[in-house]
Amino acid sequence: MSAPSDTQRMEKIVSLCKRRGFVFQSSEIYGGLNGLWDYGPLGVELKRNLKNYWWRVIVHERDDVVGMDGSILTHPAVLKASGHVEGFADLMVDCRLTNERFKADQIPFQEGTIFTYESARDAMPSDDGLLALAQLAETDQEPQINKDISMSDAVSLGLRIAQRRNLFISAPTNEPESVEQFFLDLLPELLRNPKSEWEERFRLGYSIPPRRVCGDSFRVLVRPGESDSRAKKTARLFYQKRGLRLPVLPQPSKERVSQTQEFNPENGAELTAPRPFNLMFQTQLGASSDPSSIAYLRPETAQSIFVQFKNILEVSRKKLPFGIAQIGKAFRNEINPRNFTFRSREFEQMELEYFCRPEQGMELLEYWKEERLTFYENIGIPRSKLHVLTVPDEERAFYSKGTYDIEYDFPFGRQELEGVAYRTDYDLSQHQKASGKALEYFDEETKQRFVPHVVEPSAGVDRTVLALICEAYSEDQAPDEKGKMETRVVLRFHPRLAPIKCGVFPLLKNNSQLVAKAKMIVELLRPHMTVFYDESGAIGRRYRRQDEIGTPFGLTVDFETLGEKDPALRDTVTLRDRDSMKQERVAIQDLPAILRERLA
Ligand code: GAP
Repeated sequence: MSAPSDTQRMEKIVSLCKRRGFVFQSSEIYGGLNGLWDYGPLGVELKRNLKNYWWRVIVHERDDVVGMDGSILTHPAVLKASGHVEGFADLMVDCRLTNERFKADQIPFQEGTIFTYESARDAMPSDDGLLALAQLAETDQEPQINKDISMSDAVSLGLRIAQRRNLFISAPTNEPESVEQFFLDLLPELLRNPKSEWEERFRLGYSIPPRRVCGDSFRVLVRPGESDSRAKKTARLFYQKRGLRLPVLPQPSKERVSQTQEFNPENGAELTAPRPFNLMFQTQLGASSDPSSIAYLRPETAQSIFVQFKNILEVSRKKLPFGIAQIGKAFRNEINPRNFTFRSREFEQMELEYFCRPEQGMELLEYWKEERLTFYENIGIPRSKLHVLTVPDEERAFYSKGTYDIEYDFPFGRQELEGVAYRTDYDLSQHQKASGKALEYFDEETKQRFVPHVVEPSAGVDRTVLALICEAYSEDQAPDEKGKMETRVVLRFHPRLAPIKCGVFPLLKNNSQLVAKAKMIVELLRPHMTVFYDESGAIGRRYRRQDEIGTPFGLTVDFETLGEKDPALRDTVTLRDRDSMKQERVAIQDLPAILRERLA
């Protein structure tokens, strides 16, 4: 069976996530909120398993790391000192035609011909001109001149005048230039033989102004292979949005370009100049609307770690190097959230600030990069799909001496999962300066006092969950109840991460002994793992339902369990493996130990 294309694959993953309760759009019944997601019953289990495993590896299994849980609402002084108030901004650009907003650095370089239109004028007569036309046409009805009068109504009035006065003026096409020419041809004919004041009033009404003009210039990029007429169509739409009903465009100037980011890649329309947009959400503490009550929703969890450094150092009595870990929500008003949960406006981070002596920084950067790669392999993301990008000097924060991005091959492209950065002593020094409180470390051995440096592995919970689902999604062929091959959707989660660890199935739901035994097994396993009891439908269907949500083990209670066929098999069940679909017979009493070992 051929593998689905990456776009198809992503569509299938998004649909499965909704269908089986991993991820829903936030506020969906009200039309949804862009860039915000809710995790359903299975999503929340997966997310918790990931966070628990990170916490286990980073905090519980180490002597040199302690945890904390800081507040989300953050004092503005913290984010001022960290540089976020001034500098946590993305450059954004708007499409001048659709007002769609983009991050400036996401606009691809494009080549083609730029068509520049300096202005446009309306081919439609002004309201006064239309009134004069209606009078001259001598229609039976009272002329209805309003903003809804169409181009063809206006032209019909002109044609009626020409017909009544035996003027040979040909009907225009729908093109604005042709309509303008039609009225300009009609005008001298009327003025040659005026019968009332309305001929002169039409002349005045077709002058510029009161005919509308838009003096804004506008540029369109026509890419190789596209027709030049596209420029005109796009420019007309632009001027229509600015109130011209039938824009007549002057001759554009043309210029060839080979590398430009100034145009909307979707429609070729000009973009505005880039301008900074601060990504932080601001709110107000308490009832006062005083500027002093401003607080921010934190854009990263890291800052509360730096701000609590001194307290935690004192209470934990750790020696350098040591780390402070935190998992929690962060908020960024992303310009265009996209790729499902990949870029969201509310997300969770798993961050470690690992403090050290200055001379240890570069070595620890390497150490943590390797540790983090191992972590991803241990949750089921193969090394071959992980890539380490050394962030080039010019893209690195000015205070960082080295940064790696750990990237994953998502179906929508290779993208960042986590950043591992050597941030020097920048953050602690900034907070020390701004708060006036010493954030130094006293080395008992050397009797030196200094601001520690820090290496920060900063991972995204939501991005890792998405990577886990993308990595786990697979389709294979398996026999149905009648032995006919069918497509099976399987989430091949690492058992450690799977939301439900074990499905328990009595072979028949109307056999009270099978049901009782199955329920007893559920109670036996529940203290150790998440278990799902299912008695409805054919056994094959029940396996498929669990395969689709990634449950690694399935237990079936059958007549052999009851000892009906062979007394030696009493109190044994079949244990089915999700991936190989192989079944083995195991004793019920051994189940907790066997499964716990496979889930460790
Ligand atoms: N304290 C450093 C820091 O916050 P970052 O590279 O901006 O660094 C770290 O963010 C990680 O947080 C990213 O690698 C990503 O996994 C996650 N992340 C950042 N912005 C995100 C967003 N808008 N949606 C989902 N995850 C995001």
